[in-house]
Amino acid sequence: MSPSRGIHRLATATAAATYVLLFVGGLVTSTGSGLAVPDWPLSFGRVFPPMVGGVLFEHGHRLVAAAVGCLTLLLALWIAIAEPRPMVRVTGLLALFAVVLQGVLGGITVLYKLPLAVSVTHACLAQAFFCLTVVLAIVTGPGWATPPGRTASEESALVLLAGTTTAVVFGQLVLGALMRHMGAGLAIPDFPLAFGRVLPPLATPAVTIHFAHRVGAVAVILAVGATVVHVLRHRPEHTRAAVLAATLVLVQISLGASVIWTRRTVVPTTAHLAVGAALLATCVALTLHAARLGLRRRIHPAPIGFRREVPA
Ligand code: HEM
Ligand code: HEM
Repeated sequence: MSPSRGIHRLATATAAATYVLLFVGGLVTSTGSGLAVPDWPLSFGRVFPPMVGGVLFEHGHRLVAAAVGCLTLLLALWIAIAEPRPMVRVTGLLALFAVVLQGVLGGITVLYKLPLAVSVTHACLAQAFFCLTVVLAIVTGPGWATPPGRTASEESALVLLAGTTTAVVFGQLVLGALMRHMGAGLAIPDFPLAFGRVLPPLATPAVTIHFAHRVGAVAVILAVGATVVHVLRHRPEHTRAAVLAATLVLVQISLGASVIWTRRTVVPTTAHLAVGAALLATCVALTLHAARLGLRRRIHPAPIGFRREVPA
C-alpha cells in the first residue's frame, strides 16, 4: 500500500471514529451524565472505574475521545513525514491542536462543573474538529487528483454559495449548543407554533435563544435550498452532495420537532446533534469540491514518490 493510500485510509477512519465520538459525547449531555465522574484526567482516581449509571456515558466518552486522540496523533505525524503538500501538513497539525484543546476543554468543563461558555465551546469545537478530519479525508483521497474540467470563474459562484451555507449551518449549531447548555431546549414547549403563536413574547433569554434557533432553521433551509437550485441548474456534477444536504435538512427538522414533542428524550435529541454534524460536513465537502480548481494549485495531488517532474 502506498503511503498516500494509507494516509487516506487513516484519515477516513479518523473522521468515522470522530463521528461516533460526537454521538457518544451527545449522549453524555442528553443523559445529564456530565458530572457523573468528578475528576479528570483520571476517573475516580482510576483508569477504569466501574461503569455504572452515568459513569458509563461519561467515562465511555473519555475512552472513545482517547482513541480519536491517538488516531489524530498518528495521522498528523504520518502526514508531517510523508505528505508533500504544505497546506495538508498544516491541516494535519491544526487537527492535532484541535483535538488536544478539545480534550483539555472536556477536562475543564468537568473540573469547573459544566460552565456554560466551556460546555458550548466544547460542543462547537467538536463540530469544527470533525470538519477538519473530513477535509483531510477528502484532500488525501484519489478523487481529489482528477482535474475538475472547468474555469475558475465558473467555480466562484458555487464556492461563495456553499461557503455561506456552511457558515449559516455552523451559526445554527452554535445557537443549538447555547440553547442546549442553557437548558432552554423546552423554553418554547410547542412546535411548529411557539406558545400557540407565530412570534412568541421574547420574555426571557431562554425563550429568545430558543426562538433564534428556530429562525436559524429557516435560514438553513433558505441557504441549502439556494445551493441546491444553483447546483441543479449550473453544476450537476455536485447533485449527489446537494441532494444529500437537502435530505439531511429535512431529517434534521423532523428530529428538531421530535425533540420538542418527545420532551427531549435521549435518542432524537442526540441524533439531532449528529445529523447537524453530518449536514455541516456535507456543506464543507461541497465547498471544498467546488473550490478544487483554485485549491489544487496549492494542494496539488502529486502522488508521494512521484513528486519531481523532470523537464523533457
Ligand atoms: C476528541 C475529543 C472530544 C470530542 C470530539 C468531544 C465531543 C463532545 C461532544 C460532541 C459533546 C456533546 C456536546 C453537546 O451535547 O452539546 C461532548 C460532551 C462532553 N464532553 Fe467531550 N469530547 C472530547 C473529549 C472530551 C474529554 C477528554 C472529556 C473529559 C472529561 C470530555 C468531557 C465531556 C463532558 C463532561 C461533556 C458533557 C458536557 C455537558 O453536559 O455540559 N470530552 N463532548
Ligand atoms: C436544519 C436546521 C437545524 C440544525 C442544523 C440544528 C442543529 C442543532 C444542533 C447541532 C443542536 C445541538 C447543539 C449541541 O449541543 O452541540 C441543536 C439543538 C436543538 N435543536 Fe436544532 N437544529 C435545526 C433545526 C431545529 C428545529 C426546526 C427545531 C425545532 C424546534 C430544533 C430544536 C432543537 C432543540 C430543542 C435543541 C436543544 C436540545 C436539548 O435541549 O438538548 N432544531 N440543534
